[in-house]
Parts: sequence; C-alpha cells; structure tokens
Amino acid sequence: MPDQPTTALKAAELQAAARDHLLLHFGQHANLRAGQEVFMPDRAEGVHVYDAAGKRYIDGLSALFCAQLGYSYGPEFAKAAEQQLLRLPFSTLWNTAHPAAIELAERLASLAPDTINRVFFTSGGSESVESAWKLARMYHVAQGQPQRTKAIARRTAYHGLTMGALALTGIPALKEPFGAPAFEVAHAPNTNRYRTTDADEAAFTRRLLAETEAEVLQAGPDTVAMLIAEPVQNAGGCFTAPAGYWAGLREMADRYGFLLVADEVITGFGRIGEYFAVTKHHVAPDMITTAKGLTSSYATLGAVLVADKVAEPFYNDGVTLLHGLTFAGHPVAAATALTNLDIFERDGVLDNVRALTGHLYKRLTELTDLDIVGDVRGDGFFWALELVAGSDGRRFDTVRKHELVKRFLPTRMRDLGLLARADDRGDPVVQLAPPLIATQEELDQMVDLLGQALTDADRHFLHGR
Ligand SMILES: Cc1ncc(COP(=O)(O)O)c(C=O)c1O
Repeated sequence: MPDQPTTALKAAELQAAARDHLLLHFGQHANLRAGQEVFMPDRAEGVHVYDAAGKRYIDGLSALFCAQLGYSYGPEFAKAAEQQLLRLPFSTLWNTAHPAAIELAERLASLAPDTINRVFFTSGGSESVESAWKLARMYHVAQGQPQRTKAIARRTAYHGLTMGALALTGIPALKEPFGAPAFEVAHAPNTNRYRTTDADEAAFTRRLLAETEAEVLQAGPDTVAMLIAEPVQNAGGCFTAPAGYWAGLREMADRYGFLLVADEVITGFGRIGEYFAVTKHHVAPDMITTAKGLTSSYATLGAVLVADKVAEPFYNDGVTLLHGLTFAGHPVAAATALTNLDIFERDGVLDNVRALTGHLYKRLTELTDLDIVGDVRGDGFFWALELVAGSDGRRFDTVRKHELVKRFLPTRMRDLGLLARADDRGDPVVQLAPPLIATQEELDQMVDLLGQALTDADRHFLHGR
C-alpha cells in the first residue's frame, strides 16, 4: 500500500487531469466537463475501497467481478512478482515457453474437466473469447470443414468489445456504431426464467433447447463452428441455467459437430463456488474462456482452456497455430496466477463461497418485501435483483428506468458507501458480487446497505415519497 494517501490538493489536481487527459471506458465525459467528479479509488484493504477524501466503500462488486480475494493480499503477490521480476521479467509465448506459463498451464489442466488439458494464454477476457473463436476456426479447417464460419451466442450476453468478441456480444446498442460484425453470429435465447410461462423447469429447458436448435438449423448446422454461453449469464442479471440445459447444449454440439464454449470470464475461479461453474452441470465443454478471477486481478491475464480434441490438429506435421499476443501469459502475471491458486487452496476460498451462498440468498430474498424487487436470481457470490415498477411485476418506462439505473441508485449506493452495480442492458437489475473472501458479517453489511438504497428507490419511484 502506498504510504502516502492522496491529499485533498493532489486529489483536485488529479480530477482536473482526469477530465483533461483520460478517456474513460464507458465514460460520460460531458459530465466531467460539467464539473462532476469521477469516482477515484485511492487505496483498498480487505473488502473495502477508500476514495481520495478518505470515504470508505464496501466493495459489493469485486471491482467488476475481478477482486476474488479482495485487496489485502498485496504483500504475498508482491513477493511472487518480485521473485519473477528478478528471475525472468519478460518473455513471450511465441514458439517459446517460460517456466511460469508452463507451470500455470499444468495447474489449470489439473483443475479443469478431464478432457481439457491445453491452455492458450491471453491478456484479458475479450482476447480469450476472440482466441476461442480463432481456435475453433482452425480446428474445423484442420478437420476439412472450412465452411464452419458461423457462431451461436445468446441474446443480451456480453462477451467483450473487441471486434471479434463484439460479434458474439448480444447487446445491439453496443454494436450499432461499428458496422458489420467480424463474422456471422445468430443469437439464441438466454436462460431468463422470470416472466416466462413454461409449466415447469423441464418445459423451460425443452423450449430453450428447441429455440437454440432452431437457430442452428436456420444458420445451417454444417456452417456452425461454435456456440458460446456463460454458465450464469451476467448481462440481463445473473441468469442461471435450468436443469438439463447444459447437457442439452453438449448433446446438440456433438450431434451437429460444432464446439461448445463456456465463457467463464466472470463465473470462473470461485464466483459460484467451483473453479469452473460449468462443472456444476456435469458437462465438459470444448473450451473455457477465463480472465478476471484467474489472478484475482492482481495482474492482467486471461486463458482459454482447450479440450485435447480441439488441440489435437495443432500437433499435426506442418501446422502452425496462427494466433499470438505479445503480452499473453506474461511471466509476472503467470506467477501471480499461481500464487492466487495457492491462496485459493490454502485459505479455502471456494469453501467460503459454498458455506455462505445460502445465507446470502436468504438475506437477498428478504428484499422482495419491497414492491420494487421483482426477482432474486444467481448463485454463489453472484446475484441480481430485478427491479419492477409495481408489485404486479410491471416494467418501468424507458425514462424512469434510466433515471433509476443511471442516476438514482448509483448515487444513493455511493452515498451509502456501497459499491454495487445498477444495470439496464436488459431489464433493470442491481447486482451484488462480493469478494469471495467476504465474511457473513460483511455480506450482511452489503445487503443492509443495498436494502437501504432500494427502500429509498421504492419510496421515490413507486410510492411518490
Ligand atoms: C462473460 C464475459 N466475457 C468476456 C468479457 C470481456 O472481458 P474483458 O473486459 O477483460 O475484455 C467480459 C467482461 O466483463 C465478460 O463478462
């Protein structure tokens, strides 16, 4: 931790410099010009983040699903990074292999389903998703099936924003300015159960699979290279999969010859109490895309975990794997990931999530007493509350939805000292995804603060007070 916290004067200078020089990802820069301050975390400890004014926030979002271990493991990671920096600060993986990447690949293979034993490193989530696409294409070309040029993804799903990942992302507003997608993608239904009228879970699963298969048939089954889906879909609000759904996707992929990719950039590394969430469904996908939790974001690293079947053609005589990224598998990041996995094991991080999932769910369901909370869904330490305009579940109109999600809730939660996410990429939700080391008491504090913010929203938007 830097020994000198930012002073008020320095903070003001930084705010001005941010306004004048820094382009923010998804930033609304006009607000900065109009004098609004940008949220500027200055230091952090445990599950808490402090801004430059010294205000403390409890991080109910793990800095965008990244900080699995919270913020106090710096000394241990610093030691691992220092050792790596002194030994081999950098090397690429371009037809080269350094020990940290090799050890990490072996370790990841040991954690993945039995059929998955190869790892392609990247620098982050979008790169993992794009790399999975390119590996899928190369696999099919090697199989003598170059016509498999299309993908299936799901509606409202977020798979990243670089052009290849963006093609898979199912949120039209994010795609519109950027022209034709990099490749052809059909979007199948996601697993949003709220507001459906299926008689039971089995009927829901059947309908989802039938509608997904219809997209495959429409695309032309022998033109589909892969289907990508998150085990719990983030955008839209923590849509969990019904029983039999992933087994159905696996069966469909095998029947039609395309690859099944689980995007675990968020769900991987403990968020739902397993290293890989898809294993909860007893299904082995052909690839698993990861990033964020792989290092608990103490360094930037992503990885695609690849089934032996998919990697096999890359070992054929004369074949070159036509993909590479300079920084992917950076030695310091790989050493960080190894340390992260050591800590997960030593400190029982998955056990903590498993032990507290039920409690967190129970506490969150208490908030359904508020008319504004229509649904609570998710798993592990990954939850969404869908917000509705009345106890009958009716939707907000666009203007009020915007006011609620973009202004009222973020401001109210921030004032209360809670970092959580209000989102309207689908129907409006507020999401809680605490660091995986959070205690029951800390989870309770997060839920209590969320409850206060939602009580105020309920009064203001539904009861005119
Ligand atoms: C499921 C999923 N896939 C891919 C990505 C893209 O990751 P990145 O922002 O690291 O490029 C994200 C980012 O949040 C994600 O949630």
